[in-house]
Parts: sequence; structure tokens; C-alpha cells
Amino acid sequence: QKIVLAYSGGLDTSVILAWLKEKYDAEIITFTADIGQKDELDGLEEKALKTGASKVYIDDLREEFAKDFIFPMFQSGALYEGQYLLGTSIARPLIAKRMVEIARAEGAFAIAHGATGKGNDQVRFELTAAALAPELEVIAPWRLDEFREQFPGRAEMIAYAEKQGIKIQASASKPYSTDRNLLHISFESGILEDPWFDPSADSNKDMFVLSVAPEDAPDQAEYVELEFEQGNCVGINGDHMDPLTVMEKLNEIGGKHGIGRVDMVENRFVGMKSRGVYETPGGTILFTAHRKMESLTMDRDVMHLRDSLISKYASLVYNGFWFAPERLALQALVTESQKNVTGVVRLKLYKGNVIGAGVKSPVSLYNPNIATMEADPTQAYNQNDATGFIRLNALRLKVASGVEQNAGK
Ligand code: ARG
Ligand code: SIN
Repeated sequence: QKIVLAYSGGLDTSVILAWLKEKYDAEIITFTADIGQKDELDGLEEKALKTGASKVYIDDLREEFAKDFIFPMFQSGALYEGQYLLGTSIARPLIAKRMVEIARAEGAFAIAHGATGKGNDQVRFELTAAALAPELEVIAPWRLDEFREQFPGRAEMIAYAEKQGIKIQASASKPYSTDRNLLHISFESGILEDPWFDPSADSNKDMFVLSVAPEDAPDQAEYVELEFEQGNCVGINGDHMDPLTVMEKLNEIGGKHGIGRVDMVENRFVGMKSRGVYETPGGTILFTAHRKMESLTMDRDVMHLRDSLISKYASLVYNGFWFAPERLALQALVTESQKNVTGVVRLKLYKGNVIGAGVKSPVSLYNPNIATMEADPTQAYNQNDATGFIRLNALRLKVASGVEQNAGK
């Protein structure tokens, strides 16, 4: 029998690989999605085989991640609890989707993952599996008493790994845990568990990967122009590019200017609060540019309707309901709302700030003739009309105020 394991090559999933093989007497097929975690993939195949994998999948899903996951989510303007651009959350359904495809192709009876029983990731993996391949069993070793008893701490895992001849990377000794992809890198746990600990302090500089500190960014601002078509960024500084290249390019310029660092305490789906630090340089530029593009091109009531659904959409992604019918229904509305979000946004990047520096569109809804304080040549707006408009809107306020005054007598 076969089990497909979501494998990162880190200490946890390495130990889990060896442990599963022993415990289930099964063939372990590892699956690693390349979603832009860069050097974390070096030497991975060899390592998985040495640790006991019977077969190794390392699939480049970066294009699909950018085009079918990151971009549709950014059309929605999703932001979790006002700060988090959902970099880890949005990657999980893609990883799980590919994992169940492999499990089916290989005739595996189960999929396994190294997410803990206290986090969001377990939920995201397993809700995706439930939606796409309900027949598959899920093995989550961290939720098994026997596994936790065998590995009460890092020390026991390291000892077990050494016994199994698994090479332990330097990253296993970092005092926090990370998760990196094309959209972001996250840092959690360890020294970060104290919310008073200052991750931006000079003494913690080495932690950051995708960006310089704003105070170390160039003293010279840099302009960047993003071209949008129907709510998707299709070009940067006049060059057309695909979603993957857009993300890579924006990460590079954003990182250079210290853009997109976030330090927050967030509410996990499983009920606890958790402290997270994020670097999302490209995503932060894209998010800001997209909103500015909308400001010129989106109908007011379409925008307000979509805006009223942003926190719902963000929670669905955060909580792992990417492949749920309500997310798909919401997406249809979001995608429809983007039909006219086309044009160019100019931004200025300066020491951690993304500053608006102009916007234009061939389908702009902004009409300076109507908005102007000068004489309006189009006569589309008659100021006299505002008198009645205000009077009708004031009616119920006057009535309520009269009732209150009478009651006070
Ligand atoms: N708190 C973030 C989220 O839930 C990041 C999770 C990081 N996951 C990880 N396995 N390190 O989306
Ligand atoms: C984990 O608990 O495995 C990582 C953090 C999370 O899923 O929220």
C-alpha cells in the first residue's frame, strides 16, 4: 500500500517520512510543490530517497499558483484581519489539489501531512482533500498520541533523524518556523511567540529573507508602472508579462525598497491567537496598485458591494474553503466586478511605502467635467438638484430629532 506525503525536506516531514514507513509498512511517495520557495528545493529529491521515499514528485506549480490562485484572490482585494495578504493560506489548496491527483494516479489509500493539530494548515489541506477526493484517508501524525509521545520536542526528533541517517539542515535550528512561496514568507513560533519581542530590531535583522528593512532601503525613490486588464496585472513598466513573472518582478523591486513587512497577532480558525510576521513585497505593491486601478474604473455600487464581501472572501481563504461552493460563487461576483478594471497605475516606492503617483485608463469612469469646481460644460450635473436630494435624505433625520425633542420636554 501507498501513502503520499506532503514533503518539505525539513526536520518534521523528514521524521514523518521515516516514521510512516515504519508504522504503516507502506510505500511512501513524497510530493513537493515548487511554489517559489527557491533554495529550499535544493537537493530535495536525493534527500527524500535517502530518507526512504519510494518515489519523489517535485512539481513546478508556480505558474498555476500565480495565475489561478494569487491573481483571482487579488481581484477580490482579500486581506485577513486588515493586515494579512494570505500568502500561506492561498498556497495550501493548490498543494492539496496536486497531492490528491498524485494519490489517485498512484492508487494510494491515504495522504499525509506534517501540519500540527493546532494550526490552520491542517484544516486547509484536509478541507481541500474532502472537496476533491473524499475517498482518500488523511494521516496527520501530529494529531496521533503515539507520535506526540515519541516526539515530545525537537530534541527527540533530531535524535531520531540522526538514527535514521537523515541530514539535519541548519534551518532546523532557527528559533522560529518559516513558510515561503511566490507570494510571501511567514515567520511564526519560537522567539516570535512573545508579542512584545520586536522582530524589526537590528539584532533580528538576519531573519528577513525577501526584503531589506525600510531604514536600509535606498534613499532614492523608485517609480513603477503596473498595467491592468480586467483586474489582473499584465505588465510592468511597459513590458507585458505572465502572472508568475509579474510576481517575481514585483518581489524584487518591493524587497529592495523594504515594502510589505507585517507583524501581527491573528486569529487562527482553530480558535487561538497566534503571532505572525510576514514579508509580502510584491503582493503589497500589487494590492495597492489594484485598489488604485479600481478607484478610477469601478462603478461605485459594484465596488461597495464587492467591498462588503472582502472580509468574507478573506476568511474563506484563511479557513481553507477555497474549493467550497460559496467561494466559487463569490469568485463569480468578484470576477464580474473586474470587467472594467483596466489601465495603468504609477507608484512610487520609498522606504517601505507604496505611494500613489498617478492612474489612467481608456475606460475611466472619472469625468473631470462633472467633478470640477469650475463651470461644467456638459451640464450633466445641476447643482440645484442637490437641494431636493439633501432635503429627502434629511427627512427622517428631522422627524427623529423632533421626536427626541418632544420626549425631552
Ligand atoms: N499564520 C499564517 C497562516 O495561517 C502562516 C502559517 C504558516 N504555516 C507554516 N506551516 N509555517 O496562513
Ligand atoms: C502548523 O501548525 O502546522 C503551522 C501553523 C498553522 O498551520 O497555522
